[in-house]
Amino acid sequence: MALENMPLSNLVEMDNTFQDRMKIRRSILDGHPEATKQCNKVAEAAVLEHYDWMVSTYLPQRFPTIYRPTSTASGPQLYNSVSETHISVRPQSPMAALDTLGEHVDTDFLILLPSSTAPDGSPIYHLEAFVTCFPAGFSTREKCGHPLAAIHKPVPGYEAKLEKSMDRFFAKLEVGQAVKRANWSISTNDRLYSEGGNHMYADDEKQEKHVENAKTLDVNSPSLDADVERQKREVVVEDCRLRCERQTLHRLPKTKALVFSFKTYMYQLSEVKAQGSGSELAAAIDGLGQGNVPAIAFYKRGVVWGDKVKDYLLS
Ligand code: HEM
Repeated sequence: MALENMPLSNLVEMDNTFQDRMKIRRSILDGHPEATKQCNKVAEAAVLEHYDWMVSTYLPQRFPTIYRPTSTASGPQLYNSVSETHISVRPQSPMAALDTLGEHVDTDFLILLPSSTAPDGSPIYHLEAFVTCFPAGFSTREKCGHPLAAIHKPVPGYEAKLEKSMDRFFAKLEVGQAVKRANWSISTNDRLYSEGGNHMYADDEKQEKHVENAKTLDVNSPSLDADVERQKREVVVEDCRLRCERQTLHRLPKTKALVFSFKTYMYQLSEVKAQGSGSELAAAIDGLGQGNVPAIAFYKRGVVWGDKVKDYLLS
């Protein structure tokens, strides 16, 4: 699972893209109101608990020069000194809370609850609420309500290598403990908001409509080779980006919900090269197909962008 412990104070990372990112996030929230946030009834208390802690405690304590507690005629507020706007400490609804977090924090949040149980009585976590402005090629609304196993169905090796240890880990994670992991891929465009197209599935259309997409890559498709060749020709290396996610997981003290979060970083390949990491990234791309789940290279569309991206990085 490649998880690392971290202090809970490191939940959110701040950098000099914050102001631009807030604008991008607002426009994505406005342009895709249903795709970017959802709250199932069962998760309302957890969303409000997460919001209350973020707005009343975490943000003003962790970033006191950016988020300042203040009081106006309409009650206590948090002042965002970067956007020069006020954040309500008491949101009108869980959906309003998600919308505000979505705009004011450059991190996507997903709330999980033990909505079902395995035959041995252990909890199975389901995604029950989210605000995600930057999904990396999946539809969060399609995933919402589903257990982790169904959410990860398109991921090669999940069932064999990850499912059991993840379920055990999720059941045991204690309040106060926080973990992080990193995920990376290459996207062939610079779209931060992407509900599809970054991965190879059995059937891209199905991916948009169903979570139950058992096959992750259609190795048996008669047109697979031709499709890959066509997509390879379409790759424009200047449009490609290194896309990284810093993911975290922690548990809320009252509702005991799990909060999964991710911050998305996107770099031009020229930046990677300029900082001297071109050959390292090229080696990591080769490594995708040589790890314990070689099909991950296919899932990440490495068979499409791999050669052109590596040629560029090593040139
Ligand atoms: C902390 C433990 C977790 C591990 C080790 C893990 C592992 C993975 C891996 C290996 C992938 C393949 C992505 C790639 O490499 O490009 C993936 C995809 C994904 N994960 Fe997780 N994951 C974790 C937690 C979660 C949680 C809590 C959620 C919440 C809903 C989640 C949602 C997703 C989604 C939506 C995808 C994309 C699936 C698709 O392509 O349709 N993951 N995960």
